[in-house]
Amino acid sequence: MMNLYLCLFLLCTLFVCCSATSSSSSFHVSRRSILREVHDNDESGADHDYAVDLNATNFDDVLKDTPATFAVVEFFAHWCPACRNYKPHYEKVARLFNGPDAVHPGMILLTRVDCALKINTKLCDKFSVGHYPMLFWGPPPKFVGGSWEPKQEKSDINVIDNPRTAELLLNWINKQMSSSFSLDDQKFQNDHLSSNVSDPGQIARAIYDVEEATSIAFDIILEHKMIKPETRASLIKFLQLLTAHHPSRRCRKGAGELLVSFDDLYPTDFWSSPKQENDKSSVRNFQICGKEAPRGYWMFCRGSKNETRGFSCGLWVLLHSLSVRIEDGESQFTFNATCDFVHNFFVCEECRQHFYKMCQSVSSPFNKARDYALWLWNSHNKVNERLMKEEASLGTGDPKFPKTIWPPKQLCSSCYLGHDQRSNKIEWNQDEVYKTLTNYYGKTLASLSKERGNAGNDGTEGAALEDLIVATNAVVVPVGAALAIAVASCAFGALACYWRSQQKSRKYFHHLHSLKNI
Ligand SMILES: Cc1cc2nc3c(=O)[nH]c(=O)nc-3n(C[C@H](O)[C@H](O)[C@H](O)COP(=O)(O)OP(=O)(O)OC[C@H]3O[C@@H](n4cnc5c(N)ncnc54)[C@H](O)[C@@H]3O)c2cc1C
Ligand SMILES: *[C@@H]1O[C@H](CO)[C@@H](O)[C@H](O)[C@H]1NC(C)=O
Ligand SMILES: *[C@@H]1O[C@H](CO)[C@@H](O)[C@H](O)[C@H]1NC(C)=O
Ligand SMILES: *[C@@H]1O[C@H](CO)[C@@H](O)[C@H](O)[C@H]1NC(C)=O
Ligand SMILES: *[C@@H]1O[C@H](CO)[C@@H](O)[C@H](O)[C@H]1NC(C)=O
Repeated sequence: MMNLYLCLFLLCTLFVCCSATSSSSSFHVSRRSILREVHDNDESGADHDYAVDLNATNFDDVLKDTPATFAVVEFFAHWCPACRNYKPHYEKVARLFNGPDAVHPGMILLTRVDCALKINTKLCDKFSVGHYPMLFWGPPPKFVGGSWEPKQEKSDINVIDNPRTAELLLNWINKQMSSSFSLDDQKFQNDHLSSNVSDPGQIARAIYDVEEATSIAFDIILEHKMIKPETRASLIKFLQLLTAHHPSRRCRKGAGELLVSFDDLYPTDFWSSPKQENDKSSVRNFQICGKEAPRGYWMFCRGSKNETRGFSCGLWVLLHSLSVRIEDGESQFTFNATCDFVHNFFVCEECRQHFYKMCQSVSSPFNKARDYALWLWNSHNKVNERLMKEEASLGTGDPKFPKTIWPPKQLCSSCYLGHDQRSNKIEWNQDEVYKTLTNYYGKTLASLSKERGNAGNDGTEGAALEDLIVATNAVVVPVGAALAIAVASCAFGALACYWRSQQKSRKYFHHLHSLKNI
């Protein structure tokens, strides 16, 4: 009775329930099953949770694998009325950070553990849970195998003093992170989204975007029957490049699988032959980075407006990350495969033509990987320079991510030798630029997966990446929905984009004809 009385106040005292028989320890719950559950919840509509339910079985795994910088763990008991009252507050905050529609994805993972379940008794004991709900804050890895004692002097895990309302909890978080998140923040109206070019964490997260961009590129190719006798060869070349050097293991794997069975899947007469429609649709649904890659989700390439950045940004990052992974002997092949891929399969008419012109202006073959990487860098800067002016005059850019010449001084001051007054051009130290490129798109981009991979049991990057999805709570969205998001995130610069013009109500519809030329 006493307990219930206290529960009416916000905090419940701990009610230790004695367990008669402890349940078997051989739970065989794959981490991905959490994902499924979240997914199912999502379909059931309004009353799904944003905070991730954890229990003793998956606690360590999920917290080990999340890419988030911080985690909040709420210990509660389902019978505690105060906890039930608290839930909408907690969920209000979780909405900002968790789930496919997170306003600020990948930063904070909000979780909860029901201490009233026998399976969690030990876990709650380890954290000396003394009242419900009790909230902890810390870097996710510190929770793994972790514990907390009330008298502990210094700990990486902290109790959140006064999280009674959503506002108080968020204020507390803001203080920890020197941030200014607000409960009113909406996806795509994101004032807090800012590019901090010297924050290595930002590009590390681009591994998701590279997967997303690869998946979208192939969805478009497959869904729109772009594999034709005259484009087959260039797709095969690009697939070879992806199989060898894509920064994500599961995309390398998928590209390899597609390559191996390419002739069977796409005989030269594929689209004209009266094959079973079923056969064709299964081919069309092939997912190059596997079924588990998070979809409809941009992290590094996320714009502050819903029509900016996204796919075209992801494609650039993919191309740069390939350029720093190749050997000298592959440089001309990579150049050729990339140019032809963009020319044949990038459904942005303006982009593919501009880019191809730059490709054609290259007079002698590349012998060095360095030369190719620097050519791509320089070409990208030429695009930036042109768009900088265009976006300034049309006001179509992303206000939070204005086009700049890359790398900015904050990222590499030694890259700048000087400024040629006559030609009004920057004089670059190309060695430094190349070093910056290889660090940024090579080591840093992959660091997230490497780190996690080593921490994983089997040490493979692929497995670790697969688990990341669960941890980010990024629900695998159906391809249709992913494309819808791709539509929304199509950059203005790429306004000829097919997938956007597909929306009949949009004014760019007339660009659809351009697809016929591809
Ligand atoms: C091949 C290609 C051609 C395109 N051509 C056009 C076009 O002709 N017209 C048009 O309107 N849009 C074009 N686009 C789209 C446009 O370039 C941008 O991708 C889009 O406007 C989104 O811009 P963003 O701000 O996300 O940065 P993006 O330009 O997409 O760049 C993504 C990220 O790459 C990094 N970066 C920037 N510059 C460089 C560089 N020089 N070297 C290495 N890294 C860099 C930055 O971190 C940046 O955030 C093209 C895209 C691609 C992939
Ligand atoms: C632990 O959580 C997982 C994932 O949500 C779930 O499948 C499993 O049934 C839970 N275990 C118990 C004992 O509740
Ligand atoms: C950008 O990131 C760097 C490195 O993490 C950090 O030191 C710096 O304070 C950040 N700048 C801003 C404005 O947040
Ligand atoms: C994107 O913006 C358009 C208006 O420009 C709006 O109609 C649409 O609902 C927005 N989409 C999302 C997902 O917010
Ligand atoms: C790539 O190589 C093919 C075959 O050699 C050639 O036809 C094509 O023009 C090349 N593309 C570029 C951009 O150089």
